[in-house]
Amino acid sequence: MSRSVLIAGASGGLGSAIASILAERGDRITLVGRDQNRLDAVAVEGRRLALDLRLPAACDEAVDSAAADDGIDVVVNAVGVVAFGSVDELSIDTMEELFLTNTFVPIMLARAALPRMNDGGVIVNLSGVIAEQNLPGMAAYGASKAAVRSFDEALAREARRRKVRVLDARPPHTETGLATRPIAGQAPSMPTGLDPSSVARTICDAIDDGTTDLPASAFGG
Ligand SMILES: NC(=O)c1ccc[n+]([C@@H]2O[C@H](COP(=O)([O-])OP(=O)(O)OC[C@H]3O[C@@H](n4cnc5c(N)ncnc54)[C@H](OP(=O)(O)O)[C@@H]3O)[C@@H](O)[C@H]2O)c1
Repeated sequence: MSRSVLIAGASGGLGSAIASILAERGDRITLVGRDQNRLDAVAVEGRRLALDLRLPAACDEAVDSAAADDGIDVVVNAVGVVAFGSVDELSIDTMEELFLTNTFVPIMLARAALPRMNDGGVIVNLSGVIAEQNLPGMAAYGASKAAVRSFDEALAREARRRKVRVLDARPPHTETGLATRPIAGQAPSMPTGLDPSSVARTICDAIDDGTTDLPASAFGG
């Protein structure tokens, strides 16, 4: 039987590229994002759910849907928002939003999914290269991602007992347009990033080959 894969942030640059590769490999995909139109525009066959995953009940609903037939095999969390600005420029509301979306969504999804995962399952969280070294002008975004990496470190050891692997993926800057849609501030000029489909392929290969960590250096950027 094919694997059941839940992709949160499936309407995004990385989420949609990962969905497309895993669907080609024969997986059954449940696609989740906030916006129904953007989800509908993703050229991947699968169940679609427009949900705001900042709500714990929405994380439960996403998991219930993906697990309905025969449990879940893979959860990919590619949800995220970014903001730019110095610590004194960013509002507390913006910082709270960064942590809610970037840190609490992966925590809530993992918590909801773990009991429903089949043996050999994989949870993938996209923290990012900034979780390895934070940068001025991105302190709160970077901290929200470093928290995910730290969470993944401990979750991996807890989940191993349930025969579930946790993969923390830390890709370098990738050309998905994320930096052009900040919730506050403006991106500094950056060198051209990696191609989303090549980053997605590295992540999908790691899901399939038993890799336990994906540092920035694994993306060849
Ligand atoms: N691009 C990079 O350079 C880079 C590098 C390293 C790590 N990452 C991380 O990789 C992940 C994916 O990034 P991306 O570049 O693909 O960004 P993206 O294209 O902006 O995609 C973000 C996705 O998150 C969804 N989303 C945001 N808030 C949500 C919420 N409250 N509930 C449900 N879905 C929500 C968006 O849905 P809507 O379409 O409905 O808004 C979209 O599908 C993020 O965690 C990002 O931090 C990105």
